[in-house]
Parts: sequence; C-alpha cells; structure tokens
Amino acid sequence: MTHELEFCQADSSSTEEMFALLTEHGPNQWNFLPEDGVKSEMQDVADGRAAAILAKDGEKIVGFAVAYPGLIRFPKLTTSKLDQSKFGYIGDVVVHPNYSGRGIGSSLLNQAKAFLSASGVVEVHIDCHEENAASRGMMRKAGFEELATFHDPDRRFVGSRRTWLGQSIVNSAPY
Ligand SMILES: CC(C)(COP(=O)(O)OP(=O)(O)OC[C@H]1O[C@@H](n2cnc3c(N)ncnc32)[C@H](O)[C@@H]1OP(=O)(O)O)[C@@H](O)C(=O)NCCC(=O)NCCS
Repeated sequence: MTHELEFCQADSSSTEEMFALLTEHGPNQWNFLPEDGVKSEMQDVADGRAAAILAKDGEKIVGFAVAYPGLIRFPKLTTSKLDQSKFGYIGDVVVHPNYSGRGIGSSLLNQAKAFLSASGVVEVHIDCHEENAASRGMMRKAGFEELATFHDPDRRFVGSRRTWLGQSIVNSAPY
C-alpha cells in the first residue's frame, strides 16, 4: 500500500465485488459463511436494509464491514431493555490478506459504529469464534467488550465450538 485508502459507503453496484472478496478471503476454519447467508447479506446491502462500509485502494475494494441498524441478532443474550430500533449488529467483516494487520479491519468497525450511531442506535453487537485471534484483536481495538461467550455447535465446527459476542455502546440510552 503506497497511498491512503479511501473509506466510503457501498451502493448496490458494489455487492458483486464484495461477494467475490468475501467468498475468496472470508472462509477459514473459524468462520461460518454459508453461500445463501452471504447472498442474502449482499441483497440486504443492495436493498438498503444494511449498510456496508468499504475500504478501497483506488477502484479496488480491499475490505468491508456490513452494519444492520435495528437488529437484535441474539435476543436471548441481550439484557438491555431498549427498543429494537436502538440495537445494531455488525455482520461480515473481511480484509484482503495483502492488507491485513494494518488496522483496516478495526477502522471499518469504527466507521460501521459511527454509521449505526448516526442512525440512532445505542448498543452494537458483533460475534466471532472465540478462538479467531485476528477477529478478536480487531474487535478489541474497535472497543468491543464481551457480552457473552456460548456453545454454538451449529455454526462453529472446530476448537472450543464457542461464539464470542461483543458489544459496544455508541450513544447514551434514552430515558
Ligand atoms: C479478521 C480480519 C477482518 C482483521 O482485519 P485486519 O485489517 O487485519 O484487522 P486489524 O489490523 O484492525 O486488527 C487485527 C488485530 O488482531 C491482531 N492479530 C491478527 N492476527 C492475529 C493472530 N493470529 N493472533 C493474535 N492477534 C492477531 C493484529 O495484530 C491486530 O492487533 P494489533 O494491531 O494490536 O497488533 C481479517 O483478518 C480477515 O479478513 N480475516 C478473514 C475473515 C474473518 O475472519 N472475518 C471476521 C469474521 S467475524
């Protein structure tokens, strides 16, 4: 990387390239990435149900994070008594391996949090395999703290088979 990356919000024309980046560089032993789920996430971005923050090197997308306002992804583990509209969820995050370890993932999370905050969200959730060290490092750097860690055998097939659920507060709660 010889020049600064640009961070911007995706539009529907970005989703084909995002799909290709995620299906090529997202899969590893820790991640649960069924093709149907990735396609429906891309459709959510195209239809505006979710926003995607892109990291671009020139014209090329080298990373992204998908942000859902108004979604409680794990309702049974959510203790705050806020209206659903006050919750946000960050779905898939990926950075091209040629660009990893440079703070791009955590910058994407911070920008996804800023987008959710501007949408009126108070509490943002995110999750990964508890042993996914790169994800955990990225989430820690972006200010996420543990909300729960739980046995998740339907989505985690290696190691402890547990999911780490993180939260970050991005607005003061309305009372
Ligand atoms: C996870 C991912 C998005 C991180 O992107 P990134 O741009 O490298 O993230 P950042 O540079 O912001 O932060 C990564 C942090 O984790 C640390 N880290 C990376 N790999 C690590 C490892 N194997 N063990 C321990 N720490 C590790 C980095 O050192 C860095 O922390 P530091 O700056 O304090 O040293 C990227 O690795 C990726 O796309 N992986 C494949 C897809 C994936 O797993 N997505 C997340 C699923 S929830």
